Amino acid sequence: MKVVIRTEYGGPDVLSVVEIDKPKPKPGEVLIKVAAVAATSADSKMRGLQGLSPSMRVLTRLVFGFIKPRNPILGSFFSGTVEQVGDNVTKFAVGQEVFGSTGMKQGAYAEYVCLPQTGVVVIKPSEMSFSQGASISFGGTSALCFLQKAGIQPGESILINGAGGDVGLAAIQLVRKFGVTEITAVCGTDKIDTVSQMGASRVIDYQNENFAEMDGSYDVIFDTVGNLNFNCHKAKLKKNGRMLSAFFPLSAPLRAMIMNLFSNKKHVCIVAEESVESLNYLTELFRTGDFKPLISHSWPLDDTAIAHRYIQNGHKLGSVVLLP
Ligand SMILES: NC(=O)c1ccc[n+]([C@@H]2O[C@H](COP(=O)([O-])OP(=O)(O)OC[C@H]3O[C@@H](n4cnc5c(N)ncnc54)[C@H](OP(=O)(O)O)[C@@H]3O)[C@@H](O)[C@H]2O)c1
Repeated sequence: MKVVIRTEYGGPDVLSVVEIDKPKPKPGEVLIKVAAVAATSADSKMRGLQGLSPSMRVLTRLVFGFIKPRNPILGSFFSGTVEQVGDNVTKFAVGQEVFGSTGMKQGAYAEYVCLPQTGVVVIKPSEMSFSQGASISFGGTSALCFLQKAGIQPGESILINGAGGDVGLAAIQLVRKFGVTEITAVCGTDKIDTVSQMGASRVIDYQNENFAEMDGSYDVIFDTVGNLNFNCHKAKLKKNGRMLSAFFPLSAPLRAMIMNLFSNKKHVCIVAEESVESLNYLTELFRTGDFKPLISHSWPLDDTAIAHRYIQNGHKLGSVVLLP
């Protein structure tokens, strides 16, 4: 089968397409023929370690391989069709369309993946495209995890920084569903129309304005870019406000834990987790028309390096998917 590998950390050119043996499902596993896999901002960072703080770079190397990546195959967020089931599999049957995540094990930039039936994988409804399924597994689950952690309530206000990206566009739609109508989106000029259509009630073009110098305070600030500092921006939070940081240096969670003890404003720095429950919840929102991921680009698996060049520039619109 065809896979995309990288045998060292580096720029998009370290990615290459090779043939390896197709995996066989062990007892309790399903073999999935991948139809779409999300190429994400996280994959881009794992490939090149670019943009990470020095301490985060060391941690990433410790977890994923110090000298070179332990698993050369990137990618976690897939959709596809069950092609074969191992012994004792009762949850899935051959021919079912599914989507989910291989998590930290990665390996989804491939024509096939094997997953335990107890893994993060759910049935894809027929009205959801394969690309949408792959996209939901990343942007949707990440945004949902942060918003749940913030305990966002109906009637609260939110500012979303990086609102035109994968996580930002998902967050705009999800907070609407949670009863939040005051949604301020911060994005570049070319994304203003999209974030407005997705449901932002106010848009700030960061290329022309700085929200920190403008009127307004928020119950929640969701920073998906990583350029906001809790200490500098907490004046923009209302009492009991929460700042959510999707991208942060290694020291941030510990600092947040200590500072949260002494303030009524909280800083949330977490690594989002995907779960069967979150995928099922997002599937339900998809069915009711409350959540629809935006896929701005798709490339064949052979062009993964081209996709990574686009993602790495940091100005992605919505999701990017690769099609094996
Ligand atoms: N902690 C976790 O568990 C977790 C989970 C998911 C993602 N993440 C991280 O969260 C970040 C966002 O992920 P993503 O997939 O949404 O990324 P993305 O799709 O690349 O989106 C980032 C967005 O930020 C905008 N942006 C860039 N500079 C900006 C600035 N100065 N001010 C405001 N907006 C700016 C970009 O477009 P424009 O500049 O054109 O507006 C882009 O739309 C990544 O760093 C990712 O690694 C963390």
